[in-house]
Amino acid sequence: MFVNKKVKNLEPYIPGYQPNLDDENLIKLNANENPFPPSPKVINAIKNLDFNKLKFYPQSRSDILRKVISTIYNVQEDEVFCGNGSDEIISLIYKVFLAVGNKIVIPYPTYTLYKTVADINGIECIFSNVNEDFTININSLLSNSMDADALIIVNPNAPTGIILSKQQIIEILNNFNGLVIIDEAYIDFSETDESMIHFINQYRNLIVLRTFSKSYSLCGARVGYCFSNNETIGYLDKCKDSYNLNFLSQQVAIAAIKDQEYQKNNVRKIIENRKYLTNELITIGFKVIPSQTNFLLCTPSFDKTAYGIYQKLITFNIFVRYFNSYMLDDKLRITIGTKKEIDELLSALKTIVHE
Ligand SMILES: Cc1ncc(COP(=O)(O)O)c(C=O)c1O
Repeated sequence: MFVNKKVKNLEPYIPGYQPNLDDENLIKLNANENPFPPSPKVINAIKNLDFNKLKFYPQSRSDILRKVISTIYNVQEDEVFCGNGSDEIISLIYKVFLAVGNKIVIPYPTYTLYKTVADINGIECIFSNVNEDFTININSLLSNSMDADALIIVNPNAPTGIILSKQQIIEILNNFNGLVIIDEAYIDFSETDESMIHFINQYRNLIVLRTFSKSYSLCGARVGYCFSNNETIGYLDKCKDSYNLNFLSQQVAIAAIKDQEYQKNNVRKIIENRKYLTNELITIGFKVIPSQTNFLLCTPSFDKTAYGIYQKLITFNIFVRYFNSYMLDDKLRITIGTKKEIDELLSALKTIVHE
């Protein structure tokens, strides 16, 4: 069978392992999901759904959802785009604004899907290594970007959890004229406001990506959104699939974003748990990178390997993330869970350390 050569040689994106979710004792800290359920208003929206509406196509532009998002973020409706998870929007942005042979620059390490989608589309992907302390090296990012068509920054970055300040992003924007994508998937968990949403008209080459997966506990609904000037959003609309966001997900996302109080309360609990887990991991003997996200990247500084600990945790029915890749293979990425999940993780780790 004919297969596109790019696809034949493709290294696919590997998501975190999905164990059996019906297992009540499972502790799943490997995919940066939110440990709290979606807002009760989401559950009500599903219960009160007019199922008859499922026989119709959904709003093709998710108009109501866009309107609610634009009100909450104080932007114009035509400056918002909604898609089937931010993953879909990432692919669409490449399709619309990049072409075979173009070049993008991303820090290394970062969310690896950006490289995979570049490979699928025949786009050259240049990695710009982070500093030894895992902070993004802005000078090398900019010097690697001299002839690039796009620059992508996940802020705060994954899997490091480190955030760049607004000022640092502005410095990048002032020195790079190609497309700049700032992926703010985790920014709701930051203690300072570094969001670039309100710079979309000042910098017309800027797209800011967001998702309902993380702070709104809706990974399963697959809803992402992005902000940019109305011309850029218009091009995304032109090229999207006709009905790219299904009816159920639109309803669920509308209910979730309207319940800001619930989202903010969960974010506050996750930040508290992050502080607790950071301190406890340090006490056990891990080096922990201070994080502004819902996960921690940590290195065991005792005589056990990260991979060994990862495997051992599975025997306790605890799943964390291990990356067998450059700069990361001595580390574990642990999603911030509930206090109970964290205590079970800590108890398992203490047993493993003393084995
Ligand atoms: C940085 C980053 N961007 C985007 C995504 C994908 O988000 P979504 O669930 O909206 O596709 C992830 C998922 O983990 C992520 O880590």
